Amino acid sequence: MQQWLGQAPSNIALIKYMGKKDREKNLPNNPSLSYTLNELVTNVSLEKYPGKKDFWEPLHTPGAPEFMLPKEAQDRFLNHLAFLKSQFDYSGAFIVRSCNNFPHSSGLASSASSFAALTRCALLALCELTHTPIPAVEMQANLSRLGSGSSCRSFFSPWALWDGEEVGEIDLPYPHLLHEVIIISHEVKKVSSSQAHQRIQTSPLYQSRDERARENLKSLLLALQHQRWHESFEICWRDFQDMHQLFDTCADPFSYMSERTQDVLTHLKALWEREGDGPIITMDAGPNVHVLYRPDQAEMAQRFKQDYLIGNFDVL
Ligand code: PMV
Repeated sequence: MQQWLGQAPSNIALIKYMGKKDREKNLPNNPSLSYTLNELVTNVSLEKYPGKKDFWEPLHTPGAPEFMLPKEAQDRFLNHLAFLKSQFDYSGAFIVRSCNNFPHSSGLASSASSFAALTRCALLALCELTHTPIPAVEMQANLSRLGSGSSCRSFFSPWALWDGEEVGEIDLPYPHLLHEVIIISHEVKKVSSSQAHQRIQTSPLYQSRDERARENLKSLLLALQHQRWHESFEICWRDFQDMHQLFDTCADPFSYMSERTQDVLTHLKALWEREGDGPIITMDAGPNVHVLYRPDQAEMAQRFKQDYLIGNFDVL
């Protein structure tokens, strides 16, 4: 039995990728900057199999939550594997198994870690089976991008910058941030990020989104480089709000913000006002709130959790 294993982390964008310039090549409308979440990972295994068609099943890992990928997600995963196989002219079949080390019901997007792990694992298998050298990490990331855009950033740590066909690590301070997700809803999102990328193109704010994202990126890189934390927080806040405004203003508007989301954001803002300090806050195309604390803010994070979050929200 021939088997290969691959693992990859998730990542959270602070300058958000939203909208595609080229759908076929999965090229983003604007650059993005992310922090890699090395504690939230997907594991993928591939096993050679004498059948004709690849298929997916859950990977059994002791202690890890098991879940069934919905049919649509399985198809997307298997299509990406088929694409990778075509790049190597390989027609053999595989059993694909995967699992996340974080609960599926957390509402946390797993496409970045899943597609990065699948790409890593498939490249190991395909290179060995076709006696081809393993491609450089930039090439691996670009192949992964074709399955899920944000997954290309998961190949670099702790900070990744993605602009067009270029993606790579960027040297910035704060290599060890404390990441928490405040879970507002366990429900499956009504609008997936793939749908969001398309629908926001009708927003009157979309035309100038690239310019604003570039401006935010430039300011954020400077603020982080000079360890201006408060300014970094303000820019990240501005950028995720900018992305959510695209959702609010497109032809067929939608929103992930609920009263509970607003309540959490208000409490986090109040924390900043009280202490003159606080975490970086961001939201993806979903209702949950991501917070990033500096290591020296661990006590503040604990206090905020005890005083406000526990009993009201699940926290990952
Ligand atoms: O990689 P996708 O197509 O799931 O898009 C992800 C988009 C956001 O998570 C909303 C933002 C980002 O940059 O990760």
